[in-house]
Amino acid sequence: MAERIEVLLSEEEVERKIQELGERITEDYTGKNLHLICILKGGVFFMTELSRRITLPVTIDFMAVSSYGDGTESSGRVRIVKDLDEAIEGKDVLIVEDIIDSGRTLSNLIEMLKNRRPASIKLCTLLDKPERRVVPVEVDYVGFRIPDEFVVGYGLDYKQRYRNLPYIGAVVQE
Ligand code: IMP
Ligand code: MG
Repeated sequence: MAERIEVLLSEEEVERKIQELGERITEDYTGKNLHLICILKGGVFFMTELSRRITLPVTIDFMAVSSYGDGTESSGRVRIVKDLDEAIEGKDVLIVEDIIDSGRTLSNLIEMLKNRRPASIKLCTLLDKPERRVVPVEVDYVGFRIPDEFVVGYGLDYKQRYRNLPYIGAVVQE
């Protein structure tokens, strides 16, 4: 392999942050119908850990999307590869994502989901790369803001690998 992974955020740092986010979300959603929507595949690792740090009776669902055009198509539409199993009407939806980069995927997805009339819809991401933003997205809960570097681990992949790393690492080409 012509790459190596450098630790950017250790397992302990990531876990401490997820604990903090879980506490904030618990406070904010007490008395509501919190429904977590995980964006596959990257969001799975973060979502399972986060949901265990939320001390409320949450429900969960999964969705897979693929973004059209990387740079070539400015509209950046998204296609639903796997839709939700359940309706979200009247629910307090929290989308759980691994990373927000250009913002195209999430801004499109949020618009689509708003049409299904949830009671509320918010966004929680483990990582945010604000420098890369092309489309504005309102992010309600952010784990870490990171510089414009390609990262892996905790669900994030490089050519489908490294998702299972228990920390966040930067890919360094040798
Ligand atoms: P965007 O915000 O629409 O540009 O797309 C974000 C998606 O791109 C994420 O859900 C990831 O799947 C992928 N992505 C963006 N940056 C990285 C990275 O540094 N490592 C791994 N995947 C990334
Ligand atoms: Mg993703």
